[in-house]
Amino acid sequence: MIDKNAVARCFGKAAASYDQHAILQRLSSARLLQHLPNKGNGARYNTTVDLGCGSGALLQTLGNCSNQLFAVDLSFGMLAHAKQQREQQVHQYPQQDRLIPPIYWLNADAEALPLQSRCVDLCVSNLALQWCDDLATPLIEASRCLNKDGLLLFSTLVAGSLDELTQSWSSVNQHRHVNRFLSEGEIKTALLKSGLSVEAFQVEIQTMYYSSVKEVMQSLKGIGANHVHDKDAKPTTQGELRAFKANYETLRDNQGLLPLSYKLAYCLLRKC
Ligand SMILES: C[S@@+](CC[C@H](N)C(=O)[O-])C[C@H]1O[C@@H](n2cnc3c(N)ncnc32)[C@H](O)[C@@H]1O
Repeated sequence: MIDKNAVARCFGKAAASYDQHAILQRLSSARLLQHLPNKGNGARYNTTVDLGCGSGALLQTLGNCSNQLFAVDLSFGMLAHAKQQREQQVHQYPQQDRLIPPIYWLNADAEALPLQSRCVDLCVSNLALQWCDDLATPLIEASRCLNKDGLLLFSTLVAGSLDELTQSWSSVNQHRHVNRFLSEGEIKTALLKSGLSVEAFQVEIQTMYYSSVKEVMQSLKGIGANHVHDKDAKPTTQGELRAFKANYETLRDNQGLLPLSYKLAYCLLRKC
């Protein structure tokens, strides 16, 4: 079972540094939104949900095609930060307030949404659902909230992500240092369970590069994605940490950089 409070705490702690480190998340959200069908003729989605909205980076874009927005996040700290950022933007550029539709802020779990059934037209979620116990649960929950013809567009991580970390720890000790991600097959099973019809499913690898192991670790900690589920209570020793770093160093490429790979699934689902 995922310790949701611990996950929320980690993201909340990182709220202030999130945007500075969320490079993969920006690449992924841009890719994800390429799958969003254009309604044409300036038509808008009536009600849109950003599930696991984080610092709220997608809200501006979603606001451009929606009449009202629900920004949902498990982490109160992250949600409060997103709301504060939004208020600062409005203060700085008051004309934006007329351009962005109302935003309702919900501190809630994607696995149990405090929303009525059949009230949402578009639900978007970028790199949040890998933090759920069972992917089928938030998909079924989103499906319950969608109107007929409503869309669920999400990205998540697939097994193979962060393999360089797993590999570098493997000869050091047998403790869990990296979360387990679902295989493509397991994701497809969850899609089937949701009862939604699959309009697009795409898997891509995105490799990020860093100049030191410290930077690699900071890229995860800086966005709050450093909670490891069921982590062994035994602390890592200095010697183990040195061995891990030495293993990671062997992965330097011919540009002298250290890779960290992500395997991302992009899915577009429709409620029939
Ligand atoms: C990696 S961030 C992505 C944030 C944002 N979607 C973006 O593209 O920048 C993951 C977010 O999902 C949230 N989250 C994790 N588990 C969640 C859950 N069960 N329900 C709702 N939000 C969740 C975290 O608090 C965090 O803000």
